[in-house]
Amino acid sequence: MPANDALRRESRGPGDASRQGTRPHAPANKPSPKAPRPAGARRPLKTLERLFSKAGWASRADARVWIAGGRVRVNGALVTNPDHWVDLENDRVTLDGKPLRGVAPEYILLYKPKGYLTTWRDPDGRPTVYDLLRDAGAWLSPVGRLDLDTSGLLLMTNDTGFAERLTNPDYKVPKTYQVKTSTLLSEEQIEQLRRGVPLSDGPTRPAQAQRLRDSARYTFLELTITEGRNRQVRRMIEAVGSKVLKLVRTAIGPIRIGDLPIGRWRRLTAAEVAGLERR
Ligand code: URA
Repeated sequence: MPANDALRRESRGPGDASRQGTRPHAPANKPSPKAPRPAGARRPLKTLERLFSKAGWASRADARVWIAGGRVRVNGALVTNPDHWVDLENDRVTLDGKPLRGVAPEYILLYKPKGYLTTWRDPDGRPTVYDLLRDAGAWLSPVGRLDLDTSGLLLMTNDTGFAERLTNPDYKVPKTYQVKTSTLLSEEQIEQLRRGVPLSDGPTRPAQAQRLRDSARYTFLELTITEGRNRQVRRMIEAVGSKVLKLVRTAIGPIRIGDLPIGRWRRLTAAEVAGLERR
């Protein structure tokens, strides 16, 4: 599929979101509030409970029971607090005295439809991306988030290191979005997006921005950013005086959404995983 077709494709209808999926492969309870992150700590850190689920070892519910039951040690010390912070690279975690072995890593690309949450469960009963994952074969967590109203490429994995590298802004992994704006954008507005715009949490890095086309009232734009701040694209477009009407993520690094139907998923190929890891 040509790079500039994602917005047109989405405007043809709600897409092919398969809803038959059960949720066999996702954490089975809501995230617990986390203890404050240790002051000055840098990534990669996870709470012990999250480490179990993110690494695909167990559900959070099981992890909490094991941790509270005194079966888990970190660097030889008994830890019964599920919110204990663990350094992914340096800490050694054991269950019943045995080091936790890795499970086979899984890497899945999902075409998230608009209207689906990037969480396991919603108190209001709205659909989540886990409704779309069938036979995925592991406990998988989303690599970053997409807003409820954003569609497009969402990676899911149990490889915590891989997820950290893709979401850590220091690695500057480019994420490409197609945007329909609520007004026509001038060249100067697009140039501002390229230079970087002031946001409440600081100026954005320079971005790539390319006009795809204009209709009578709207601009269709491709925007590539190397950060992943909360609602960043929406806030950037607002910072230049317009609004996002439609937002589709079409690529992360070299991985493209291609012609995957909306709502469907596929495994990444080994070459795609390697391509992302080389970055
Ligand atoms: N930027 C946004 O504003 N929303 C998303 O979902 C992703 C990037």
